[in-house]
Amino acid sequence: MVLIGEFMLRIGLSLLLSCYGLSAVFAVDGMMSEPISPIPLTITVDAEKIALGKKLFEDPIFSKDNKLACSDCHNLEKGGADNRFRSLTNSGDLDIINTPTIYNVAFNIRFGWAGQFKTLAEQLNSSLHNPRHGNSNWEALLAKLQDSADYADAFQKIYGRQKIQRLWVEEVMIEYQKSMTTPNASFDRYLRGDSQAVSETAKRGYRLFKKYGCIACHQGINVGGNMFQKIGIFGNYFKNRDEINPTDYGRFNVSGLEEDKFVFRVPGLRNVELTAPYFHDGHTRTLEEAVELMARHQLGREINEQDRDAIIAFLKTLTGEIPVKAFYVWRP
Ligand code: HEC
Ligand code: HEC
Repeated sequence: MVLIGEFMLRIGLSLLLSCYGLSAVFAVDGMMSEPISPIPLTITVDAEKIALGKKLFEDPIFSKDNKLACSDCHNLEKGGADNRFRSLTNSGDLDIINTPTIYNVAFNIRFGWAGQFKTLAEQLNSSLHNPRHGNSNWEALLAKLQDSADYADAFQKIYGRQKIQRLWVEEVMIEYQKSMTTPNASFDRYLRGDSQAVSETAKRGYRLFKKYGCIACHQGINVGGNMFQKIGIFGNYFKNRDEINPTDYGRFNVSGLEEDKFVFRVPGLRNVELTAPYFHDGHTRTLEEAVELMARHQLGREINEQDRDAIIAFLKTLTGEIPVKAFYVWRP
């Protein structure tokens, strides 16, 4: 285990993200009284595995005919998503659901908009096979990796002289995804006791976020990501849409239960200013609209402009340090 470059400069506690999905209890700098907790300033990772995971994440090798890399849709410079209504699939069509961010993914309790995957390994398996994403399979991927002198060499360095195994690919890619955290947001600095870190408007916005009740669903380290809720508790969210698509049924598609219709995993709101358009359907372009829709459909309230803008000022303080710069060095 090695502490990598930039993280080392971030003083604070060192924490191993030990889970492949289930939320861990994070003991954080003594600020546990608030319903939102800061992202740890450092994480302990295996630098070699992460470098290899990053290389794979950015390499179209995982898709059939080498068409799409994970990072084509989960673009690290676009908030970990791609700012599209829907991503382009490997056949050039539009995807059927908006692409969520890859940042802070390890803090979610389930993966996918409907929480259809229990672990990042299950999710990865789906990315590989999904006809719109990888459209491939393990056999094809492992053969391509084994044929590449670069990859064969890199895996050997970590795991020894054997044929590349699925488990190794899972391990390095998941290790990399777990490292994609965005610490040190101004709101986190505020939570840690720096009262000057956010503006008075943002502070008011946070109070309103709690007072309106947003916090009932968007809470914890990811300001979401830890429960399932229906979209449209008050009034029909879909009434202004031409049609309802299969993906709109959310968890119903997973469980088949009537009460799971239109239920989604509450998304985390970290870096939300970078990840427009919003909601699973990607229909909402601005935070203004998103906050108004949430107040109306989740809380049964119309929100005035001033309150809305204060909440947005708060949401913008959730933007953390984006690990865009490649500080994971590929060992010569
Ligand atoms: C064509 C675009 C596209 C590509 C390529 C792609 N993804 Fe995704 N990814 C998506 C979409 C869309 C979803 C949401 C799917 C759903 O919930 O039904 C998603 C969801 C995810 C999630 C769940 C995030 C969360 O918060 O729950 C993870 C993790 C993920 N992808 C990782 C990957 C990895 C790793 C790769 C490469 C092996 C990859 N993706 C390739 C579009 C893409
Ligand atoms: C009852 C639970 C609940 C409450 C209360 C709630 N939300 Fe949400 N929020 C959700 C769910 C579920 C989604 C995802 C819905 C979807 O994608 O269809 C969501 C999505 C969002 C999104 C879009 C995130 C993205 O990445 O697309 C924003 C922004 C947001 N909520 C802000 C708020 C604000 C601000 C409030 C308070 C005014 C609020 N929410 C209240 C459950 C809730």
